[in-house]
Order: sequence, then structure tokens, then C-alpha cells
Amino acid sequence: MKLIAPSVLSADFSRIEQQVKMITEAGADLLHLDVMDGHFVPNITFGPKMVADIRKLTNLPLDVHLMISEPEKYVNEFAKAGADWISVHYEASDHLNRLVQQVKDAGAKAGVVVNPATNVNVLEEILPYADFILLMSVNPGFGGQKFIESSTEKAKKLSAMIQSSGSKAFIEMDGGIGTGNIKMLSDAGVNVFVAGNSVFGSKDPAGTIAEMKKLIN
Ligand code: DX5
Ligand code: ZN
Repeated sequence: MKLIAPSVLSADFSRIEQQVKMITEAGADLLHLDVMDGHFVPNITFGPKMVADIRKLTNLPLDVHLMISEPEKYVNEFAKAGADWISVHYEASDHLNRLVQQVKDAGAKAGVVVNPATNVNVLEEILPYADFILLMSVNPGFGGQKFIESSTEKAKKLSAMIQSSGSKAFIEMDGGIGTGNIKMLSDAGVNVFVAGNSVFGSKDPAGTIAEMKKLIN
């Protein structure tokens, strides 16, 4: 499975309806929505209301990335707002197993996210329970940052862990992904590619998505 998930963080929020419809028609496989609280990460974006409003604009699955402290307080609300996938940070939870179960009970696919400096070895015990692992390839908080090169080896390592454990989890990667590195990441085992700046910042988003798809299929 190989999917492109444009990140709405790089869209123009003053034209959100046009932007969501444009990217839906441009061939996006799902929409990545970045929720930031100004506490877990040094930036603030939006909450469940925005997710519910975007839900009305597209039939694409909504992939909600929670960069917030105490995610357990908000998971159910985001599921109710229409999130199909919800990912929670390893670094934001003391009770990750319970949190992953909470996401599943709320009816969403459950993802566990790790920051660039977190070793994937810590995921061993959660792998059988997570639907997917999201590897951050930039420090979370902002779009348009430079890809952290060691993320490729990290994807290879996680991919091997998943294979040897017999887990069915898939790998998503987020940050600094574009046409220049997507093939290498796909070869390293990444299945879902978040792309903010490279897609919304492009003169031809549909052409960029098509080029990305050609490179990984
Ligand atoms: C960063 C967010 C990303 C961001 C990626 O904290 O989690 O989803 O939108 O943007 P680009 O693709 O521009 O690095
Ligand atoms: Zn994200």
C-alpha cells in the first residue's frame, strides 16, 4: 500500500473550502490534519470544529495527527468530528496501550507517532496493537522544514521490526517529503507519505501528486 496524504497545514485557511476541494480532485488519497496545542509543540493550529467542518468538504479519509498534551482528553471528540485515522505521540502519553485502545474504541485507525530523536525500539510492545506508526522526519510544529536524513535508516529499521514481529502495522512518514526523496523512502518501507509544502506550495499540486505516485508505484 502506497498513499499520498497532503497536509492541510500548508493550505491557505482563508480559502479552506477551495483548497480542500482542489486537493481532493488533485488525487490525494487522504487528508492529513495537524492539531497543535502550543504546549506539546511550539505552535497552535485548530481543534475538532475544524475537523468537523473539513469533514463536510471531502469524502477522503481524514488522518488527524494530534500534537497535543493529554491526548486522552480529546481523542473521542476528534473521532466524533469525523477523524478516520488518529495518531498520538509516544512522547505525550504515559499509558500508550490504553490510549491506543481508546482510539480504536472510538472507531478510528490508531497510529503511534515518534519524534525524530525517539528510538523505534521503544515501539516493540505497542506494535501488535497499533494500526500504523508515524515517523516524524522533522521536529513537529511547523510545515516547510528540512527533512532529517537519518529518518530513512529509521524507516528501514522499523520495517524490519514489523516484519520480524508479524505485525500488520503500516508506516507513515511526516515532514520534508517531496519528489526528491519519496522514492528512497518508499524503498525504505514507508507506505503513507505526508506532504505539506511540496504539494500545497507547488504551482501544480495535481501534477506534483501524480509525479509522486509515479515515483513510488
Ligand atoms: C509538522 C506537521 C506536518 C507538516 C508537514 O509538525 O506534523 O504534517 O504539515 O509539512 P511539510 O511536508 O511541509 O514538511
Ligand atoms: Zn503531521
